[in-house]
Amino acid sequence: MKIMSVVGARPNFMKIAPIITAIRRRTTEGDPGAIRHILVHTGQHYDRLMSDSFFADLNLPAPDVHLGVGSGSHASQTADIMAKFEAVLLEHQPDVLVVVGDVNSTVACALVAAKISFGPDGTRPLIAHVEAGLRSFDRTMPEELNRILTDQLSDLLFVTEESGLVNLAREGVPAEKVHFVGNTMIDTLLAYKEKADTSAILDDLGLRNGVAHNGSGRPVAPYALLTLHRPANVDDRDAFLDILEGLDEVAREYAVVFPVHPRTRNRIKEFGLNRYFLPDNGSDAAIPTGQIRMIDPLGYLDFLCLMKRARVVVTDSGGIQEETTCLGVPCITVRENTERPVTVTSGTNVLAGVRREDIRKAAKSQLHRTFTNEAPVKWDGNAAVRILDILMSQPRSHE
Ligand code: UD1
Repeated sequence: MKIMSVVGARPNFMKIAPIITAIRRRTTEGDPGAIRHILVHTGQHYDRLMSDSFFADLNLPAPDVHLGVGSGSHASQTADIMAKFEAVLLEHQPDVLVVVGDVNSTVACALVAAKISFGPDGTRPLIAHVEAGLRSFDRTMPEELNRILTDQLSDLLFVTEESGLVNLAREGVPAEKVHFVGNTMIDTLLAYKEKADTSAILDDLGLRNGVAHNGSGRPVAPYALLTLHRPANVDDRDAFLDILEGLDEVAREYAVVFPVHPRTRNRIKEFGLNRYFLPDNGSDAAIPTGQIRMIDPLGYLDFLCLMKRARVVVTDSGGIQEETTCLGVPCITVRENTERPVTVTSGTNVLAGVRREDIRKAAKSQLHRTFTNEAPVKWDGNAAVRILDILMSQPRSHE
């Protein structure tokens, strides 16, 4: 069976990694000729820190094909991926195309595959969507549109949590296409959880034992980890400011570490918001409370190490809500909604909203909560193996 998988942006890498591992195992331990795998990188993310470092940390093979699309408006980025991917699909003619998550690369490649024809009989690859069925019900989010469209285009829909089953049934997706398999991002988390302890990031930032220390080695405060990159939160100056002021509750009690996404760094500069942060001048590891220390985006292992030991994580990311739930680390999500409700109903996540008073309130309550640590159903490290079993049981398009 010829399987092609597509990655494009940072969160895709940890979702595809365990599938590639499962393919490697099956071909080395089982039938070496059973699967031919082709990895395509669209180039949606291209910086070393947003892409290459993940290939190294996650032991991913170099992509077989790199489309090199880079940044652009939604339309131009999506169109560029589609035009370039069509030629790749026609050349390799895979039996199955695997797309993951909800980024522009996901929907662009699914749409090309849904309309392609490898010959006069109209043969095309089966389209498999990993992380299907998640819905925020907020169509102003580009990812929500990407999710809905990708699910409509897919032949096999691999669902991470039970809400996905309900959402897909409501949208009329036939039940026989849908498989509740668990979460490949959590497969990766469980596979690398121990190895993350080898990271030097805590020492580099003066965070011994989860506590920030000052220059003379004295403990200052426990630390919090912050990430922000949603366009709705960082592309509008007033919205961004509201969030920063809401975060003062956290910064009063904690030393806050903030690995900054390139999009967010550009906005901080453009909006003149530098004064809200300690610069990352590298000369002093101390992070005083009351301020937020910006650092460059981190690789997978460094970030996981920081997340594991943080007393609280504040984020607007999707995947981090799931990872903190699995790690039992309290999470404050700076959004009005989540497409991952299981992280709130049975995890460690709380939806804070985006207004300063609401963020302060959520921070206060979350800082003093305790959790029983029970992973959501099927978040057990075996999602990728379940996915591969299902893929291998499909009839091949060229048979
Ligand atoms: C994309 C995904 C989002 C995901 C996020 C993770 C879409 C619609 N959005 O958002 O779902 O949560 O990735 O990071 O697909 N940039 C760089 N270097 C890079 C990549 C981006 O400097 O390697 C800068 C560019 O200025 C670019 C901006 O970041 O214009 C935004 O990048 P883009 O891929 O368009 O969207 P993200 O905000 O990263």
